Amino acid sequence: MIKILAINGSYRDDGITDQTVEAFAEALRAAGAEVELILLREYPIEFCLNCRACTQQPGAAPGTCLHHDGMQDLIDKIERADGYILASPTNFGSVTAIFKRFMERLAVYAYWPWDMNGPKFRKAQAPMKKALLVSSCAAPGILGRWFFGTDKQLKMTAKTIGAEIVGALFTGMIAKEPHPKLSKSVRAKIKTLAGRLI
Ligand SMILES: Cc1cc2nc3c(=O)[nH]c(=O)nc-3n(C[C@H](O)[C@H](O)[C@H](O)COP(=O)(O)O)c2cc1C
Repeated sequence: MIKILAINGSYRDDGITDQTVEAFAEALRAAGAEVELILLREYPIEFCLNCRACTQQPGAAPGTCLHHDGMQDLIDKIERADGYILASPTNFGSVTAIFKRFMERLAVYAYWPWDMNGPKFRKAQAPMKKALLVSSCAAPGILGRWFFGTDKQLKMTAKTIGAEIVGALFTGMIAKEPHPKLSKSVRAKIKTLAGRLI
């Protein structure tokens, strides 16, 4: 069975990001996939120490971090998954701070010994997995995707864990009420996009 891991960087229960990820999960499960949902807001992840201990050993396997927190468990889930949904609202033109904290801990996917100028992605040669990107913002969706950093950051996350992007859903104009609901047209798009992951 195809395993999809959905990593959600929203801060609030049942916001647009939660609703979007859940709608994707429903469509994927209906198509026979196994879906696991990760709420980063409930996950114990420390900040990266920038020590680069995890980047020193060569090889395609993720390096070992000095922290002993929830990230090791999450890396194991990332390694076992066949595809991903990477989701974060746009806050101040960027993914949320909890998504960024998670991203920085993906340093384990870089090989970067002290004598090398820049990192090499450990998964660059590995068979590509698939990723769908999800974000939402107050601006119109297409503008949000072009102008804010979220799209780039979600793409960088996918590249780091060895996934190619097979689709993206950037929902816009949804911050005009305290409890916005997904529209029918967005739900229909989700059903179509979900098919690209499996
Ligand atoms: C602190 C904060 C910063 C935000 N910054 C932006 C922004 O830079 N651009 C934008 O279009 N929307 C911005 N928004 C609106 C959010 O992107 C929008 O409410 C988001 O889609 C909510 O996702 P959620 O329902 O999963 O919480 C911001 C909202 C908050 C609370």
